[in-house]
Amino acid sequence: MAFPVQRKRRLRATESLRSLVRETRLHPAQLILPLFVAPGEGVRKEIESMPGNCQLSIDQLLKECADLESLGIGGIILFGIPETKDEQASGAYDDNGIVQSAVRALKSEYPKLVVITDVCNCEYTSHGHCGKIVDGDVDNDATLEWLAKTAVSHARAGADIVAPSDMMDGRVAAIRKALDDNGFQKTPILSYAAKFASVFYGPFREAAESAPQFGDRRSYQMDPANAREAIQEMELDLEEGADMLMVKPAMPYLDIIREARSRFHVPIAAYQVSGEFSMIKAAARNGWLDGERAIVESLTSIHRAGAGIILTYFAKEAARLIG
Ligand code: PBG
Repeated sequence: MAFPVQRKRRLRATESLRSLVRETRLHPAQLILPLFVAPGEGVRKEIESMPGNCQLSIDQLLKECADLESLGIGGIILFGIPETKDEQASGAYDDNGIVQSAVRALKSEYPKLVVITDVCNCEYTSHGHCGKIVDGDVDNDATLEWLAKTAVSHARAGADIVAPSDMMDGRVAAIRKALDDNGFQKTPILSYAAKFASVFYGPFREAAESAPQFGDRRSYQMDPANAREAIQEMELDLEEGADMLMVKPAMPYLDIIREARSRFHVPIAAYQVSGEFSMIKAAARNGWLDGERAIVESLTSIHRAGAGIILTYFAKEAARLIG
């Protein structure tokens, strides 16, 4: 039966009706807030390309997390900016490194807060690449050892979930084995499984001081043109023992999120990355679009595509808008 019997506008007439038939609802518990922790005390250094986001020293990080519980936010993911960087990324797997120290402080102040740690080397290497450089390229297998040590040190510090974002082959298996060998059978792995070599990470690299000093990341992160390969990456990570899968970035890759949701039965996360945040923020600041509506619409689209968990720099603002 068609028009005039069918009139789709009947159910759009009032906000109460629209709310009744709404298919997708965001909840603050699905949102993860990324935070950057840096050395020092009293440090709140705003990231120019990500207004409202700061590099925080541990004392300020604790303050930043004070209202997360009342907002009902699902958790945080931590990135570290170490005091010094070197060829071996030694700050990444140091038990007294910046992330490890921050995790201990967070878990003692907020034992219930879900603390995820990003497991990667690019913030810790002097060259800014995600692994060990051998003959001008990132050496896959040598890097696995660093990643495994880093994940174990994060778990030892009390991280609830470790999230490898380096895109080395075999990292999930290496991390799973190292965690198990060290008594951390219960620590879940959230794998950045389908991580694309994206221009939208630009502002993050200012935030984490992790821009590669030569070349780019295209020999390890995925080609934005490839959807079938993304499925393969996710299948492999599940076989290796990933507990959850992530697609990153989010809005330019909604097709990948949808495909992941329909194929796999583990939780699917998506990362609304720094560039996605900055685009919305910049347009809103210029008065070119309504920032609040853009936040809710962008996050709703990511959830509608199939992501149950969304990592977003808008987590606090969004929680206030939807909570
Ligand atoms: C580390 C890492 C990056 C991001 C998350 N983990 C940067 C990169 O791969 O260059 C990007 C997050 C963002 O843009 O918000 N490898």
